[in-house]
Amino acid sequence: MKTVFSILAIVCATAAQAAAPAEILAGYQAEAAKQTAGFQPSAQRGAEFYKRQFNVSAKMPACTSCHTDSPAQPGRHAVTDKAIKPLAPSANADRFSDSAKVEKWFRRNCTEVVGRECNAAEKADFVAYLMGGR
Ligand code: HEC
Repeated sequence: MKTVFSILAIVCATAAQAAAPAEILAGYQAEAAKQTAGFQPSAQRGAEFYKRQFNVSAKMPACTSCHTDSPAQPGRHAVTDKAIKPLAPSANADRFSDSAKVEKWFRRNCTEVVGRECNAAEKADFVAYLMGGR
């Protein structure tokens, strides 16, 4: 019995620190399902969102403005020209492993590019697409 509890404690401690992209995706999926019963993330919708031209800002009309057409490639900030590491977890293992960081950047980038915060369904689709890695 004692062993079971120690194993549980280790599992919980690990989960609190770092998350895998699949866990972050599951979190957004559960949140989106509260709005739309049976919501299923779609990599296809995520790809469309990633490439859509929102044109709220002339310098950064789309996610691709900084992250390039291919999320497995390194990007460049459209305004500051600073290098940005690839967004796809297949090319950059740090991606979608820290939910606070993911939330911070979704908030900032969606507000700048889309003109509002992204909802849970959009975030789930986006992560599903990036986990595909292309
Ligand atoms: C103006 C440039 C720019 C644009 C446009 C942009 N991003 Fe980013 N994005 C960044 C920078 C800078 C970072 C953080 C630096 C880093 O982690 O390499 C980042 C990081 C992220 C992260 C954090 C992922 C992680 O786990 O590390 C997410 C999520 C993200 N962006 C989503 C988006 C989405 C969605 C869009 C389009 C709606 C978008 N970005 C458009 C510059 C941009």
